[in-house]
Amino acid sequence: MSDDKRVVHIRTTADIHNAIFAVQALARENGMKEGVSAAIATAVSELVTNVLKYAGTGRVSYQTVKRAKRLGIEAVVQDTGPGIMDIEEAMKESVSTSGTLGLGLPGAKRLVDEFEITSTVDRGTTVKVVKWG
Ligand SMILES: Nc1ncnc2c1ncn2[C@@H]1O[C@H](COP(=O)(O)OP(=O)(O)OP(=O)(O)O)[C@@H](O)[C@H]1O
Ligand SMILES: [Mg+2]
Repeated sequence: MSDDKRVVHIRTTADIHNAIFAVQALARENGMKEGVSAAIATAVSELVTNVLKYAGTGRVSYQTVKRAKRLGIEAVVQDTGPGIMDIEEAMKESVSTSGTLGLGLPGAKRLVDEFEITSTVDRGTTVKVVKWG
């Protein structure tokens, strides 16, 4: 049951909360500690906020993953927006093209165990995060 991939569509700011709630619920269903569920949910909320801000719309797909008996939560946040020209630069703290703090991407990366970002200008951005329980 919990192996199914689930999706939250990102269209409005309410979807930030929908994504947080959904990812936390999956983590809790699978008996993960509060700290694990909070970490992945917070990372996802930053990524969803970026989708709304820079791309407008997108989606989060999330599921449980297993590796060598370890259980984790994987979330993939993707959009087909403008993309990121310089990923290395965008990952630095205090780098923002919108005049905010520029902590979202580096902060999200710190909260999870695995973080993969791919982006193509004019095609969009995909960020995959995994938090092991
Ligand atoms: N999904 C995305 N599509 C296009 N550009 C993005 C996307 N996500 C991040 N970026 C770019 O990467 C930069 C850094 O993102 P990050 O989330 O770290 O900071 P921020 O959104 O500018 O500020 P904060 O998250 O602290 O409010 C952004 O300013 C933006 O230029
Ligand atoms: Mg941000």
